[in-house]
Amino acid sequence: MRFIPALALAAAVLLSAVGGVSAQEKVLSERGDVSIDELSKVDMFRPEKDKETIPRNFQKQPPLIPHSIKGYNITQNFNKCMDCHSKERADATAATKVAKSHYLDRDDKKLENISPRRYFCLQCHVPQFDAKPLVENTYKPATKK
Ligand code: HEC
Ligand code: HEC
Repeated sequence: MRFIPALALAAAVLLSAVGGVSAQEKVLSERGDVSIDELSKVDMFRPEKDKETIPRNFQKQPPLIPHSIKGYNITQNFNKCMDCHSKERADATAATKVAKSHYLDRDDKKLENISPRRYFCLQCHVPQFDAKPLVENTYKPATKK
């Protein structure tokens, strides 16, 4: 099953909160049993091949990234993602334009360029990854009326 790591984390946190310490002990992180300052031996961060987009599960879900992001750096002066996804570049690159929400500041004022709130794409968008769920997840999207 394809899976969203951020969602897994949220589910794990939620579960441990609900289930108390005992549930927390059972859930091993995707990194394995390795402390934060050590390098994880889990080889799960190699870039995935480009693939079909996975449909979104709910309306405001940040879509998963269906392509490799290797070398797509975001620096103070240059955002490689916007090199393809900006409204000016999207037609030429065939990338989906970033959503209109990405040009709004926190007062909903429209900006010329990507909003600083949306500058770090990977805060919300993660590449698709075929990872085994850490905990069972029975989430189902609401059916459309
Ligand atoms: C070289 C051009 C290029 C770059 C650079 C690029 N993308 Fe993309 N991206 C695309 C294209 C083309 C698609 C559409 C693929 C498709 O529809 O099959 C896409 C699709 C996506 C989607 C899925 C949109 C949807 O509606 O499902 C997301 C999210 C995304 N990219 C995020 C990113 C992020 C984040 C970065 C930077 C880390 C990035 N992209 C860099 C070309 C690019
Ligand atoms: C704070 C979270 C957040 C950040 C940061 C963010 N996005 Fe998004 N993105 C979303 C959400 C949520 C959606 C879907 C809802 C919407 O349209 O706003 C989305 C939608 C998209 C879409 C699909 C648009 C469509 O019309 O289907 C693309 C492409 C995209 N983002 C690319 C990017 C890129 C590239 C960046 C970095 C420059 C970025 N996003 C930064 C949350 C974020």
